[in-house]
Amino acid sequence: MSATSASSAPKGKVSIQTLRAKKMRKEPIAFLTAYDYPTAVALDRSGIDGILVGDSLGMVVLGYQNTISVTMQEMLHHCRAVARGVSRAHLVGDMPFMSYQVSVAEALRHAGSFLQKGGMDAVKLEGGRDRALAVKAIVSAGIPVMGHLGLTPQSVHQFGGWKIQATTSEAAKTLIEDALILEDAGCYALVLEAIPAEVAQLISNRLAIPIIGIGAGSGCDGQVLVTHDLLGLFDRFTPSFVKKYADLFSQMESAFQEYIADVRDRSFPAPEHANAMDPQALRELMHNISLIESEIEPDENIRLH
Ligand code: KIV
Repeated sequence: MSATSASSAPKGKVSIQTLRAKKMRKEPIAFLTAYDYPTAVALDRSGIDGILVGDSLGMVVLGYQNTISVTMQEMLHHCRAVARGVSRAHLVGDMPFMSYQVSVAEALRHAGSFLQKGGMDAVKLEGGRDRALAVKAIVSAGIPVMGHLGLTPQSVHQFGGWKIQATTSEAAKTLIEDALILEDAGCYALVLEAIPAEVAQLISNRLAIPIIGIGAGSGCDGQVLVTHDLLGLFDRFTPSFVKKYADLFSQMESAFQEYIADVRDRSFPAPEHANAMDPQALRELMHNISLIESEIEPDENIRLH
């Protein structure tokens, strides 16, 4: 982290108004994901604008094949851990599959849980015009909603795999309409994932709300990445739009190998890792032990053998 990035970070708690003001000033907005306390603390201290507790949790932390298996319980558990580490960044909880699709009433109740039980400031949900009613109801209850369009991972089976979306003019037009509908419904921001940069740029120019891109080019108002991808902590694959800033998985493996070798050749723990007893207390202990030993009756059975 450079001193500049930390000092240019907003001083107080980042709100949806702060994000809107950043868009108006054309200041890029930086979001990353977090799922645990130490990552949340490090992100908050680094000056990040927003933290998404994404349902990518399912893949990069829990080892599921996709995000579909993630439950409300799992999301809330990780949201609470992140919230405990953050005092400044804006916090968004990702609504998991089937927590908002069944009915508006369920969507509203589950969205409320993210604020009430998860310590989040806002929720995110995937989908376009079909989500407008749910978005309106959640926003009416005072809960900020971030939309998510493009390659929405909960629909991976409908897309037939992890494929870039909105590549034809027809599909791009539908996506732009969806973006406008979500803005009208009350979304305070949108994530655009894996779509052509030109389409994302058109949407960012057209909408007043901040557009946060992931694999959507540099024309968005901000960017988000899955932190495990950026840190090189996810072993299965790295999407082509990710810039890896570290290779922590390899570093973790070599640290583990070094530790195992140290334990096996007894170079760990070294004297500085152990607690020595006060010499006087040790002399007393040895004396007491010898007294105890002299008082112990020889065991009959042992004697017999
Ligand atoms: O779950 C997640 O991390 C996300 C981001 C990829 C935007 O939805």
